[in-house]
Amino acid sequence: RLRGGARVESTYAMLKPDVASKKEVVAEIIKMINEAGLTVERKELCRLSKSLCKEFYAEHSERPFYNDLVDFMSSAPVLKLEVSGPDAIKTWRKLLGPTNSEKAKEEAPGSIRARFGTDGMRNAGHGSDSKESFAREYALMFKGGGFPKI
Ligand code: PPS
Repeated sequence: RLRGGARVESTYAMLKPDVASKKEVVAEIIKMINEAGLTVERKELCRLSKSLCKEFYAEHSERPFYNDLVDFMSSAPVLKLEVSGPDAIKTWRKLLGPTNSEKAKEEAPGSIRARFGTDGMRNAGHGSDSKESFAREYALMFKGGGFPKI
């Protein structure tokens, strides 16, 4: 633990297809990550298979938007990131802002989802919500499937 009680940890961050291939947006988001005291440890631009997206979002399989979300996430490349630093899980989710970009524009105008996202699905980024989620998502994304693009 660091002074102040912060924990050095990693999170799985992912830039979604609406922003992952936009160079200036990606550069700005990485700048925000670094300015928050976090470090990008690993970065891969990948087109995800539909089956990998289904598994990644399995906890939402009963939600009405599940198929749309899976189709969107497999429609174009995503940027997979491992981000580390003090309280990385919480800090990255704070940078992202509220899940729905329309709500984010009202409630957290400086956040990533407010600045670069559009709605509840095209919301620029994803972040693990716990250490357990990070372990599952990291294993799936960095030790499992997906088709490397670069
Ligand atoms: S919850 O209940 O807090 O877990 O759900 P939520 O955070 O709202 O959303 C979880 C993920 O589902 C995506 N989402 C959607 N996709 C498509 N259509 C609609 N309407 C929709 N609403 C939410 C949302 O982008 C979340 O994805 P991640 O990758 O976890 O941010």
